[in-house]
Amino acid sequence: MINRMSSMMRMIFICSLMGAISVPLVSATPVDLSAEWQVDPKYNANEAYCELQNMVGVNSIMAYAIIKDGNIIAEGYGEGRSAAGIYQPWSVTKSIANIIIGLMITNGDVAANDTLATIFPDPNDWINVSDAPAKMTLKLSELMSFTSGLTRGGLIIGYATLREELASLMYEEENRETWIYLRDDHIFSWIIYKVTGMTPRQYALSLDFFTKLGINETEYNWGTFGVEPLKLETTAHSFQTNVRQLAKFGQLYLQGGVAAPGGEQLIAPSWITESTTSQPEEGYPQGYLWYPTSRGYEARGIFGQYISVIPSRNIVIAALRRDCIGSSRGFIDAAHSRLDKLDNGVDGACPESLWDRVVPDWAKVGMSLVTESVFGDDQSSLDYYPSNHHLRSP
Ligand SMILES: *[C@@H]1O[C@H](CO)[C@@H](O)[C@H](O)[C@H]1NC(C)=O
Ligand SMILES: *[C@@H]1O[C@H](CO)[C@@H](O)[C@H](O)[C@H]1NC(C)=O
Ligand SMILES: *[C@@H]1O[C@H](CO)[C@@H](O)[C@H](O)[C@H]1NC(C)=O
Repeated sequence: MINRMSSMMRMIFICSLMGAISVPLVSATPVDLSAEWQVDPKYNANEAYCELQNMVGVNSIMAYAIIKDGNIIAEGYGEGRSAAGIYQPWSVTKSIANIIIGLMITNGDVAANDTLATIFPDPNDWINVSDAPAKMTLKLSELMSFTSGLTRGGLIIGYATLREELASLMYEEENRETWIYLRDDHIFSWIIYKVTGMTPRQYALSLDFFTKLGINETEYNWGTFGVEPLKLETTAHSFQTNVRQLAKFGQLYLQGGVAAPGGEQLIAPSWITESTTSQPEEGYPQGYLWYPTSRGYEARGIFGQYISVIPSRNIVIAALRRDCIGSSRGFIDAAHSRLDKLDNGVDGACPESLWDRVVPDWAKVGMSLVTESVFGDDQSSLDYYPSNHHLRSP
């Protein structure tokens, strides 16, 4: 695997491994996610907020929300963005797919060690599929940790049939157990569909899942692929909503898979632990479609979209950046470095001195970049999305 990595990637991988220490994963005090977020007394009146606000609206930071102890304590929106908007969090959708599969696991519909032979038993789906016997042995767990030996996935626009999806996958036996990220592939949509007989959205609705998270039908948009009558919701990208709602997915995991105090166990805690801890024994720290970090775990989408869960602080941060410009990591790191300051209340408006103090950080969030049209040149996104195929405009 090392041969396949650039020196930049090697560095990141080593640094990330050093950071991936074990942390307690589940918080003790669930809140009712079906209700609006409760507001912390220091809401938007704390030093962290005063400093982070300097980054909003410049350099493409478009929205963030920080949840602490189950209450919203800071949030901000760039020009033209709002708490109720619907925005694209790109591959954060993969981590939401992990949650949907977590519902299936918890309901006993599928197991992490089920193979594609079990999940896709119809021989017609395998006609003319290269390396079909090997692909049939791939486990769901291997697919979810990107260690299946699949070195190329399907197209970002998806396929109309499962056979085309399976045929699009390139398998290399020698790369089994090697971490290789498949950025665009929607195989999890097919897995959910074939196991449950429902599209991902239908399955979630059948369990009242979004209602339990307080996300009503007007508050999200879930992109689809395929042709009528079979359109499946995407699982690589395009579960679109806003930061207040994205934070609920992180909070659901933070509170151990229950959506309310005393609520039913929607997701098994063992699935949450397994999904958010590193699965490949070596290589890039990757759970099941979540990324373990030194602080906890993250959902990541290209160009700086995040749900970051920090169990030791009982904090969830959701942050969205506008596409295509600048450093993708700057804002979330800035937020992480200010968690202590959430406790430092300020009276009324943010003091001038605080606003001044953050100016040097602006460089971190990409002052130097000016164009919105370049998709492939965002090196900082490449940092987090290394893969065999390079980033190209969809
Ligand atoms: C598959 O996973 C299930 C649930 O974790 C476990 O009970 C079973 O023993 C596993 N089967 C194999 C063949 O590893
Ligand atoms: C499989 O490949 C054969 C030979 O190229 C072709 O004749 C047949 O139509 C293909 N079947 C499907 C279902 O694509
Ligand atoms: C859905 O949520 C939005 C925003 O909170 C609200 O304005 C709308 O009335 C809700 N719709 C339904 C059907 O509950």
